[in-house]
Amino acid sequence: MKIAVLPGDGIGTEIVAEAVKVLKALDLKFEMETALVGGAAYEAHGHPLPDSTLKLARQADAVLFGAVGDWKYDKLERALRPEQAVLGLRKNLGLFANFRPAICYEQLVGASSLKPELVAGLDILIIRELTGDIYFGQPRGRRTAVDGHFPGAEEAFDTMRYTRPEIERIAHVAFQAARKRSRRVTSVDKANVLETFQLWKDVVTEIGRQYPDVELDHMYVDNAAMQLVRAPKKFDVVVTGNMFGDILSDEAAMLTGSIGMLPSASLNTSSQGLYEPSHGSAPDIAGQGIANPLATILSAAMMLRFSLDQPQAADRIESAVKHVLASGLRTADIYPEGMSAQIPPVVKVGTREMGDAVVAAITKKTTKS
Ligand code: IPM
Ligand code: MG
Repeated sequence: MKIAVLPGDGIGTEIVAEAVKVLKALDLKFEMETALVGGAAYEAHGHPLPDSTLKLARQADAVLFGAVGDWKYDKLERALRPEQAVLGLRKNLGLFANFRPAICYEQLVGASSLKPELVAGLDILIIRELTGDIYFGQPRGRRTAVDGHFPGAEEAFDTMRYTRPEIERIAHVAFQAARKRSRRVTSVDKANVLETFQLWKDVVTEIGRQYPDVELDHMYVDNAAMQLVRAPKKFDVVVTGNMFGDILSDEAAMLTGSIGMLPSASLNTSSQGLYEPSHGSAPDIAGQGIANPLATILSAAMMLRFSLDQPQAADRIESAVKHVLASGLRTADIYPEGMSAQIPPVVKVGTREMGDAVVAAITKKTTKS
């Protein structure tokens, strides 16, 4: 088993270091190889996704990814910007199925921006199609408008598109995931306006007939955005396209208290996967040692479960994280300012201390059993 470790930029290097530490503490047999990606790779090799990094990712059973991006690259031509690394990996490895669970841990109910009763016990799974839609549709570009409101003006355009097989396979992923949960799927579209999403809705409905035991409903994306903050616990599995999934998954993240808690998995048809926190490189806090490593540590758990066939090791990481939260440790993003009189008392810790605490919880459990 081989894991490609791609820390990337900003807090990426800090949080991935903690996840690697946790993986090593499990004492399993796998090889890890690290490579540059994103802005760091651009600095060293002139490209955010160098051939050597792509080759390593292709050969590996799984990729553990940190984050990419920094404002200082915003002026580069698009093909050289750090974000192209993650888009390139998704496309080249065919990682069409993106799982973004949003779970509100009991101890973090107070960290959410919503009222505790709305988020306590929240457990939803957003399944985002990841290799199609307006993100990858061609043609795209800039040109001079020949019609529309301002003929002759400079214009930019992108193409939103989905083929039937792309929708079919992500729908199957969603229904199968729902079978392992509460058997409810909400498909999010914009069929009232867009052809792309009328096809989406038609195909998801068709595939749904093969899963009579799973309840399917459809929601327009604007309404879904509203329902997510109105009554988020009504959702179980949410399946949607690439762009709507990008937006709704950030929204869902905040329900859980902090985007610093949210792992993600992106899989292809052969269960090869890329595992990354749902958050970005946070250049504003990079290098300070205060980022929350738990999203990345929990992504490593997803990697063990989905790509490396080590479900017990995944359980060990997840229960260690719960243990550490229960013991009161909090990074700044989940620290309840002005509410220090809690039982047990909460303690603000940095990135490394949080990683160390997870490692300690894992090794302690090993010696006991
Ligand atoms: C995400 C990110 C990426 C996306 C960016 C970094 C290209 O926002 O994974 O959600 O838009 O998909
Ligand atoms: Mg996003």
